[in-house]
Amino acid sequence: MTEQNAGPKKVVLSGLRPTGPCHLGNLAGALRNWIKLQDIYQCYYSIVTWHALSSEYMKSQAIRDNVFEVAIDWLSIGLDPEKCVIFVQSEVKEHAELHLLLSMVTPLPWLERVPTYKEMQAELQDRDIHTYGYLGYPVLQTADIIIYKADIVPVGEDQAPHLELAREITRRFNRIFGPIFPEPQTLLTEVPRLAGTDGRKMSKSFNNAIYLKDSPEVIRGKIAPMITDTRRMRRSDPGEPDDCPVFTFHKAFVPKDKQAEIAQGCRTAGIGCLECKKVVIDALIETLAPFRERRNEFEKNPQRIWDILQEGNRKARRVAQQTMDEVRTALGF
Ligand code: TRP
Ligand code: SF4
Repeated sequence: MTEQNAGPKKVVLSGLRPTGPCHLGNLAGALRNWIKLQDIYQCYYSIVTWHALSSEYMKSQAIRDNVFEVAIDWLSIGLDPEKCVIFVQSEVKEHAELHLLLSMVTPLPWLERVPTYKEMQAELQDRDIHTYGYLGYPVLQTADIIIYKADIVPVGEDQAPHLELAREITRRFNRIFGPIFPEPQTLLTEVPRLAGTDGRKMSKSFNNAIYLKDSPEVIRGKIAPMITDTRRMRRSDPGEPDDCPVFTFHKAFVPKDKQAEIAQGCRTAGIGCLECKKVVIDALIETLAPFRERRNEFEKNPQRIWDILQEGNRKARRVAQQTMDEVRTALGF
């Protein structure tokens, strides 16, 4: 799916929940890819506030603040409002209307069998997500996608079941009310498994993330104390990079030849963990430096961020309203 034929550009839509500033996992797993796609397709990138609310409804104020954080992160890494539409889900109310209509034709068992539903219930035990809104999460996601008649949805593997369901809901809606929506295709993004600073999966909710806005000192402070492969008790003990949380960063951010050299050094005890971590620290600082620079510029003029969002919201709304006109006509309302 890399070639673009003549004719109207295919439409891409993806979204990110504003539960905090963007971290390295977001960059490696989604954002790097989004930047490439904006040159090829008509891309819509949404800060999905309502999806964030479905699990964080006790902290709606924080979500508001995080919209700004996410927007400034996206612009700093090079998402370009001249090329793609950057918008806030809850500023385009048509998503909610379509969500409601889709909910009419979505059988409950389809939602109850979504694997992330049960998993998240288990994982987020500190929050009560036994709610109607949470169950309907993938229905809202479907509305996000098809309201722009998106052809392609770039997501990581964890979202594949949601996309499968989105296609099923779309088919059912089209069958009942007429062929309005294309079935969205999943563009599976390879998501490198990044460890967090505690060795678990990097996640905002685990409080173990390295953020795009972290300064060189903060990055150093987070990587330096990280646990390494436990076989390397002493400098002379060989280790296994594939069992080392630190090496997950090498895989995502260090050039391949250098990675191979380090893996070899680790397995032969030729390189020490300190030296090895320094390679990652330097690579991360280098990767993030241009982002930080642009962020500093944007921070001088926060109004510009809000203006860009407002313009994106306006563009998104125009398309969403047009789709909803079609939908209402099909329903005879
Ligand atoms: N559920 C997605 C996630 O957690 C976020 C999301 C919401 C999304 N709406 C979307 C992704 C539409 C792709 C398309 O990552
Ligand atoms: Fe991990 Fe590097 Fe130490 Fe090997 S040398 S255990 S990859 S930090």
